[in-house]
Amino acid sequence: MKAKFILFTSVIIILVSFYFLNGNTLTQQSQKKQSEQVLPKNPMQGRIVFEQKGCIDCHAVNGYGGKTAPDFGTHNFFGSNYDLISAMWNHSPEMLKQMNLKNIDKQDFSPKDFQNLGFFLRFLPYLGSSGNASKGKELFNKMSCSSCHSVGKTNSNKINLNKIGANASPIYLAQVMWNHASIMQKTQKQSGIKVPVFRDNEFADLSSYIESVSATSRKEKIYMSPGNPLKGEKLFKSKKCFYCHEEKHIGPELTKFNFNKSVTEIAGMMWNHASNMDAAMTRNKISYPEFKNNEMSNLISYLYFKNENQIKGSTEEGRKLISQKGCISCHSAGNSYNSPAINKIGPFQTSDEFFSNLWNHLPMMEKTSFANGKSLPKLLPSDVKSLYLYFNRKER
Ligand code: HEC
Ligand code: HEC
Ligand code: HEC
Ligand code: HEC
Repeated sequence: MKAKFILFTSVIIILVSFYFLNGNTLTQQSQKKQSEQVLPKNPMQGRIVFEQKGCIDCHAVNGYGGKTAPDFGTHNFFGSNYDLISAMWNHSPEMLKQMNLKNIDKQDFSPKDFQNLGFFLRFLPYLGSSGNASKGKELFNKMSCSSCHSVGKTNSNKINLNKIGANASPIYLAQVMWNHASIMQKTQKQSGIKVPVFRDNEFADLSSYIESVSATSRKEKIYMSPGNPLKGEKLFKSKKCFYCHEEKHIGPELTKFNFNKSVTEIAGMMWNHASNMDAAMTRNKISYPEFKNNEMSNLISYLYFKNENQIKGSTEEGRKLISQKGCISCHSAGNSYNSPAINKIGPFQTSDEFFSNLWNHLPMMEKTSFANGKSLPKLLPSDVKSLYLYFNRKER
C-alpha cells in the first residue's frame, strides 16, 4: 500500500514538473528575438483567459457566451497577432464604452495572458464548423466515392468505410485519404473517374455523412486533438516538407501562404496537390510521407500559425507613424498629459508585451483623448507591426 502511494505521488510529481518545464520553455521562447515566431503548444489554453478576463460576458464563441459583441465563431480570422491587436485597438473605444455601461471592469493583461488569449482567438476559426451530413451524402455520390466505396451496408465489390465513421474528427478522414492518395488517385485515373477536388467545408461534410451512416457504435467516438503546432514544426522538417518547400524551392514557399482557412480546407489543399507532390517526391527520391495518430493535425496547425512574417512593417515606418498617428502629441518629452515620453516607453520584447502594455493603459489614453477632443487613431495590422518594431529598439 505504502509503495503504491509512493509510486502514485512520484508520478504526480513527475507530471507536475513536466508541466512547469514546458511552461518554462514557453517563457524562454517568448524571450527569443522577435524574428523567431513563438508557437503555442496548446492553443486552446487561452480559453481560460477569455473567460477570466470577462471577454465572454459580451463575446460568444460559436453561440456560447454574451450576445452584445461579435461572435468569435468560424469566420473571423485573425491571421496573426498584429491582425488581432489592430482589431482590438480599433474597436476599443466602443468596447470601453460598453464596459462602462455594463459596469464591467476592464481587466489588465500580463504578456503571457495576452499571448494565450491571442493563440486561442486565432485558433477558433481554424477549427472550422461542423459538417453537414446531407451535403456529405450528395458529395459521396457526386465525387464518385460511391463507385468504389460503401458505407453503412457492406458490399463485397466495394471497400467499406464504416471504420472511418468511428472517428468524429473530419481531419481524420483527410489524414487517411492522404495516406492512400497515391493508390486511390491512380485507381481513379485508371477507371476514368475524375480525381475529386476538395473545397471549403467538403471534407467536414463528407466526414459527417460517413459518421452518421457508418455501422460503428456511436458511443465510442474517437476525437483527434486540434493540433500542437510545436510538434507540427518538427514534422514539417522530418516529413521533408521543409526540404521541398523552404530549402530547395521544389514546391511553393508555404510560410508565405495565406492559410486563413480551417484545418480541413488546408488538408483539402494538400489532397488537391497530392498527385503532383507524389510525382515530385518520386523524382527527388523522397518517400511519400504518411501520417498516424495526431500528426496531420499537428502539422497543419503549424502551417496555420506560421504566418507572422506576412504582415509587413519596419522600424522606419514605425518612427513615421508616431507622428502621423498623433502619438507624439501626447508622448513628447515634457508633455502636459501626464504620459511618458516616447523614449521612456519600452523596449518590448514581444508583440504580446507591447500590446498588453497598451491595453492596460487604454482607459487613461481614452480619457486623455476625450478630454482633449481627440480620438484614438486607427491602426492597421502593418501599423501595429511597425510600431512594435520601433518600440522593440532601445535606441529611439
Ligand atoms: C462590455 C462588453 C465587451 C467586453 C467585456 C469585451 N468586448 Fe470586445 N467588443 C465589444 C463590442 C461592443 C465590440 C464591437 C465594437 C465596435 O463595433 O467597434 C467588440 C469588438 C471586439 C473585437 C473586434 C472584433 C472584430 O470582429 O473585428 C475584438 C478582437 C474584441 N472585441 C476582443 C475582446 C477581448 C479579447 C475581450 C476580453 C479581454 C473583449 N473584447 C471584451 C464588447 C466587449
Ligand atoms: C476509383 C476508385 C476510388 C474512388 C472513386 C475513391 N476511392 Fe477511396 N480508395 C480506393 C482504393 C483502391 C483505396 C485503397 C487504397 C490503398 O489500399 O492504399 C481507397 C482507400 C480509401 C480510404 C482508406 C480506407 C481505409 O480503411 O484505410 C478512404 C477513407 C477513402 N478511400 C475515402 C474515399 C472518399 C471519401 C472518396 C470520394 C471523395 C474516395 N475514397 C474515392 C479507391 C477509390
Ligand atoms: C518532393 C517535394 C515535396 C515535398 C516533400 C512536399 N511537397 Fe508540398 N508541394 C510540392 C510541389 C511541387 C507542390 C505544387 C504541386 C502542384 O503544383 O500541384 C506542392 C504543393 C503543396 C501544397 C499546395 C499549395 C497550393 O498551391 O495550394 C501544400 C499545402 C503542400 N504542398 C504541403 C506540403 C506538406 C505539408 C508537406 C510535408 C508533409 C509537403 N508539402 C511535402 C512539393 C513537395
Ligand atoms: C490623447 C493622448 C494620447 C495619445 C494620442 C496616445 N497616447 Fe499613449 N498614453 C497616453 C497616456 C495618458 C498614457 C499613460 C496612461 C497610464 O498611465 O495609464 C499612455 C501610455 C502609453 C503606453 C504605455 C506606456 C508605459 O509603458 O507606461 C504606450 C505603449 C503608449 N501609450 C503608446 C501609444 C501609441 C503607440 C500611440 C499612438 C498610436 C499613443 N500612445 C497615443 C496618452 C496618449
